Order: sequence, then structure tokens, then C-alpha cells
Amino acid sequence: MNIQEIIAKKRDKQSLSKEEIEFFITEYVKGSIADYQASALIMAIYINGMNEEETTNLTQAMANSGDILDLSELGNVVDKHSTGGVGDKVTLILAPIIASLGVPVAKMSGRGLGYTGGTIDKLEAIQGYRTNLSEEEFIQNVKKIGISIIGQTLNLAPADKKIYALRDSTNTTESIPLIASSIMSKKIAAGANKIVLDVTYGSGAFMKTKEKAQELADTMIKIGELAGRETVAIITPMEQPLGGNVGNTLEVIEAVEALKGNMEDDVEEVVLELGNNMLKLAGKGNDLEENKRKMLENIQNGKALEKLKELVKNQGGDVSYIENTSKFKKAKYIMPVILQKDGIVKELKAEEIGKLSVFLGGGRIRKEDTIDSSVGIVLNRKIGDKVEENDIVAYIHANDEKKGEEAVEKLKEIYVII
Ligand code: URA
Repeated sequence: MNIQEIIAKKRDKQSLSKEEIEFFITEYVKGSIADYQASALIMAIYINGMNEEETTNLTQAMANSGDILDLSELGNVVDKHSTGGVGDKVTLILAPIIASLGVPVAKMSGRGLGYTGGTIDKLEAIQGYRTNLSEEEFIQNVKKIGISIIGQTLNLAPADKKIYALRDSTNTTESIPLIASSIMSKKIAAGANKIVLDVTYGSGAFMKTKEKAQELADTMIKIGELAGRETVAIITPMEQPLGGNVGNTLEVIEAVEALKGNMEDDVEEVVLELGNNMLKLAGKGNDLEENKRKMLENIQNGKALEKLKELVKNQGGDVSYIENTSKFKKAKYIMPVILQKDGIVKELKAEEIGKLSVFLGGGRIRKEDTIDSSVGIVLNRKIGDKVEENDIVAYIHANDEKKGEEAVEKLKEIYVII
């Protein structure tokens, strides 16, 4: 077996066998297949797709590329994953809420992918927060404080770590087999026995239509079942960014505000729906209203925010940033975006705003790029909001003046007013 033949097969629209998929994953992780060969195969998969059996085999091979944690001694452990979005800070809000209700949360998150943000990049915006714990520490943390959120630096699904970085820099993100295997291999490896998926669709999501999102959800649910993990998915729109802030530090600040009770309506809707499913799967009750009440109560009484602080502290982060978010380093230039129009916001394409954040330095163009945590966009007006001439509809946070000015002009065009 050799990689050239495997690439040629997929290039020619043939299905790959289990052995061929396993060969690719094992040899790529070992380093005997080069990045350029892996990129060619990933592009062929992106273009020609995979059938259900191939996707399942790819997921299993990726999960088996490293360790698979056994968290069964902790009882029901839940995990949550989003298929990606712009301004999606849901994990930072939801995971502490659920853990504060006594349900262990063990989560391995990803970095930004394409124009979408990643929870790990957001957590690393907090001074000192360690995302690269040992497996032992990860398990100990869940046992000790009921929550841990880590990155892919452990020997958990190392194949996904390598392929994810390639996909990010080769524009091969929007593919059902690649997304399903990426997410489910991580979920299987990280050990939770209950998985809640947030499958997004619309301009800011990898799936542009609800039908495609449903197809992705069905694929992942099936893979979860085959792996013995109870999996549910909710489908959520991502036409415009979620919440008010886009950018790593800006999103952490918004998440802290949300845990203080100041949550944007669209964020709250997603948090409560996912949370309700996490509580249900954990056996904490099936009553939607009661589950929502419990979650909101733990925001009001401060327990959820305390849990976030505990998580940050336990993973080496400086809690004073959460206690006082004005400590976060701000971008050098905070530029108002003023529209010379009256009317209602009709469109605010999340994909365009995600790309704007990457342009400002908040995402990666090359896989080795470092990101600038402080840059981003604050949206004062969203779809359906009224705009009057000379209103400040948004702010651009930039560290490069010229880029900031360019971003202001671009954002004026992204706002469609009628
Ligand atoms: N999140 C992931 O972990 N992988 C993807 O491919 C997309 C979103």
C-alpha cells in the first residue's frame, strides 16, 4: 500500500477501504506521509466526499491514533461541541453552568478553523490558562472540580490535530466527512459518554443550508451510536455572528458578562437549548422549563461564574482577569463604524465578519501563525435593529492602524440596511 495510490483512488472518486484509511492515518501521524501528500488526499476527500462506511472508518482511525480515555468511573460525563461559528462563545458560558449543576464536563476543544473561532484560542487569551494538560491532569481536574477544558496537545486524536491544521490553511473545512470525523474522533478520545452537538448552518457556518446541517448531524449521531456514546444534536442558525463580540479576548469578556447575567438573547437561546439537552442526557431531568430555571438560577446566584473561575484557576490561569475584565490588554485602536444611512439592518453576514476578524489578526492564514487575541469587532447593531444616520453601529479593535481603517470600510459594506 502506498499513499500515491490512495490519493489517486480518491481523486478518481473511488471508495477507500478500512485498511487504506488506517494506513493513511497511522503513517501520517508517524510522519512518514508528508503534509503535501496528506493535503492532496484531504482535498480529494473534500471534492469527492466519502460514503458512510468510509466516514465511520476515518473517525475510528483518527480516534485510535492516540489514547482513548476511560472516564466511566465518573458516571455520566457530558461533552459538547459546535461545528463552528462566528462569535460562538457558548462553551465558555455553558460548560461552567452545567458543571455548577453537578454534571461533570470533560471537553477537548479546537482552535479557530477558517473564519470561525475556536474555544482554545479564546481560553488562551486568559493569562496563564493551560490548554495542554496531561491526560492524568485532565481526568484529575474533572474529578476534583467537575470540569476541564483542554486543547489537542495531548495524545488524544493526534491525527485530527494534524489534519485540522492542514484543513485550516488549505480551505478544505466545509466537508461533511471531514467535519464529522474531526469532531467525533475528538469526542470519542476524550472519554465522555454523553455528547451534545451544536450543528450550525448559514453564512457563518460550514453548512450553508439547514438540510446540509441535518445531514452532518445525522452522520455524527450515527458515529456516536456506533462508538457507544449517546449523542444528540441541535441545529442552530449562524446567519449573523452570535452575540455582540467577535475576537478572542472580546468573546471571553462577553462570556464573563453573560455569566454575570448580562447575556445577549441569541446567545441565551443556544446556551439554554444545549444545556437542556446536556442535563437531560446526564439524567438530571427532562423538563425543559425546569432545566432552564436551574441554569438561570446558577447564573443569578453566581455559582456558574464561580465555576468558570475555578476552571481558570485550576488550569493555571490568572483569575483576576475574570474578576476584572478591564485588565485584558486592549487593542491599540478602537475605531467606530458609523453609517450614513437610516433604516433597519437586513443582513450582517457572519462569514464576512469572521474573515474580517482573521484579517485583523484574530485567526490564522498559515497553520504556524500566532494570533492576536485583542483584535476583533464589537457589534452594536444586529439584524432587525434600527439604524439612524450617524449611529455607531460597531467598533473595530485593531493593532494596526491601516488594517483597522480598512476593516471599518469593509464593515460598512457588510451591514446591509433597508
Ligand atoms: N470543529 C471541529 O472540531 N472540527 C471541524 O472540522 C469543524 C468544527
